[in-house]
Amino acid sequence: MRDRRDLTGTGFETRAVHGGGGPDPTTGAVNTPVYLSSTFAQDAVGVDRGYEYARSGNPSRASLEAHLALLEGAEFGFAFASGMAAEDAIMRLLDPGDHLVMPTDSYGGTYRLATQVHRRAGLAVDTAHLSTLREVLKPETRMVWVETPTNPLLDIVDIAAVAELAHGQGAIVVVDNTFATPWIQRPLDLGADIVVHSTTKYLGGHSDVIGGFAATNDPDCAQRLAFLQNAAGAVPGPLDCFLVQRGVMTLPIRMERHCANALAVVDLLRRHEAVKHVLHPSLADHPRHDVARRQMRAFGGMVSFTLHGGEQAALDVCTRTHIFTLAESLGGVESLIEHPGRMTHASAAGSSNEVPADLVRLSVGIEAVDDLVEDLERALDTVV
Ligand SMILES: Cc1ncc(COP(=O)(O)O)c(C=O)c1O
Repeated sequence: MRDRRDLTGTGFETRAVHGGGGPDPTTGAVNTPVYLSSTFAQDAVGVDRGYEYARSGNPSRASLEAHLALLEGAEFGFAFASGMAAEDAIMRLLDPGDHLVMPTDSYGGTYRLATQVHRRAGLAVDTAHLSTLREVLKPETRMVWVETPTNPLLDIVDIAAVAELAHGQGAIVVVDNTFATPWIQRPLDLGADIVVHSTTKYLGGHSDVIGGFAATNDPDCAQRLAFLQNAAGAVPGPLDCFLVQRGVMTLPIRMERHCANALAVVDLLRRHEAVKHVLHPSLADHPRHDVARRQMRAFGGMVSFTLHGGEQAALDVCTRTHIFTLAESLGGVESLIEHPGRMTHASAAGSSNEVPADLVRLSVGIEAVDDLVEDLERALDTVV
């Protein structure tokens, strides 16, 4: 077992580098090794050295879980095989007949999971713009799901205000912090009960691993999540844990660059005649810019926009960039461009969560900013 350094009072960057624990006491390895073992020898029947079977626990996973929990300011953390697996475990905390409120603008897969999997298992699900949350809360509401910034419309939800309202009703608040990361905002500090991530995105940061994570300070939620993690078994392998952990160590410097490059891209989009509307919380005319300023350290690397030329122009722009790669996902070092209506959010078509057809979403990477601006400008010039 690796020693845990005392990182009390250290800065976020220090915790990002050292949060996985100190050097391995046996070998001095400075990084947590990839423990490729499915089972662990016991010294006597029922006497183990902290691990018995790798679905229940593995040192590579334990190190990642402690690391990410530290960054989110959580006492308990659980790694999963994907963001969806983490979300599924959280929704399983609810019982048939319980009511879940979700945002009208959330990741399409989250909406699909709630409405096509958990609703079938007896959960009552409503979508609402969370600014009107008060109107949809019921006595049986047990969970309010928050995504902020939202995917793909980049709206901002006031976490503290939602938490106050939901708690008054006896509901817990879950925040998907995938877009912001704990470098930008810490939902548990703002009153949320559970924070969830697709670690596939900024935490992993290199588009080479699928993973999920959930954290909480509530011992009861933690105990049930631990049970579900082991009982349902949607756990990440040790190599996946290593890859996420390696990414996390550079999270702060990557996020600084993502955010700075995104501001330059926003500036270009605001000036370009092909662009109808730019969606980014940095903009003073964003409806919840003030909330963003209050709860976020920076405005994030995701940028969305609509085009005067409608859906066809959006589809054309997506195929005419050279540095921005046409692909789903986000949060990696490379810039990506996509059409949410036909790609990431296709499963929400025809529902209250359907996204505009002329919408393009960018995950702004950490390349040279001038190259990104030029690439996008050239593609936009073709649809004027
Ligand atoms: C905000 C958000 N949450 C959750 C997920 C699901 O994560 P995963 O793809 O790792 O299962 C995604 C995936 O795109 C996402 O964007």
